[in-house]
Amino acid sequence: MERLQKVIANSGYTSRRNAEKLILDGKVSVNGDIITELGVKVNPSDEIMVNGALISSQTKKLYFLLNKPREVISSASDDKGRRTVVDLIDTTERIYPIGRLDYDTTGLIILTNDGDLTNHLSHPRNNIKKTYLAKIEGILSKDDIINLKKGIVIDGRRVDTSNFKVKQKDLLKNTSLVEITIVEGRNHIVRNIFASLKHDVIKLTRTNYAFLSSDNLKSGEYRELSLKEVKKLFSL
Ligand code: URA
Repeated sequence: MERLQKVIANSGYTSRRNAEKLILDGKVSVNGDIITELGVKVNPSDEIMVNGALISSQTKKLYFLLNKPREVISSASDDKGRRTVVDLIDTTERIYPIGRLDYDTTGLIILTNDGDLTNHLSHPRNNIKKTYLAKIEGILSKDDIINLKKGIVIDGRRVDTSNFKVKQKDLLKNTSLVEITIVEGRNHIVRNIFASLKHDVIKLTRTNYAFLSSDNLKSGEYRELSLKEVKKLFSL
């Protein structure tokens, strides 16, 4: 048995909070009875209707790994009409990205309709590692290297930036390629790390998300995650 609002949210119909509101507003019925309180639990054979539409608690869970191109927004919809990561996936199910990549950042992002996986991977406690390749203005100085090894404070909170490698230095163009692995999920975190060292990020790509890598996915391509991969993500 599971809570009604959780089943509605897991079906991909809407968020848990919105599901609670729909229940309180009398828009939800279970086996024909309108429910208006939040304590109710249901089982998979119950017939749940929201706004007159049948919700299946058996909705298939979907998991996609996308190599996001530039100029695509990491949300399910955009009020400015820009292309979203969801537009790139061929499905009629309501899916959404886990976390965000900036409009101009490329690389790996997971899309799903599974709220439990989203919560699991988004929780700071689970320390999900993400690796980025950043092309930055300038060459890192000795002090920059020391600071990165110590960790960088962004908005009053230290980020562990010690796991990095300078992959290339272009003295002519005055740019560098730096690979950095962090567990942080804050927006613009990599750009902010380098900005605090006075190096603008020219290009940014996420090459690894936990144990997943972008090796076999060209820009704009995606694939479904295997059951084994999903299980492994849940075990992190
Ligand atoms: N850090 C950033 O600055 N941007 C991203 O898109 C991801 C991480």
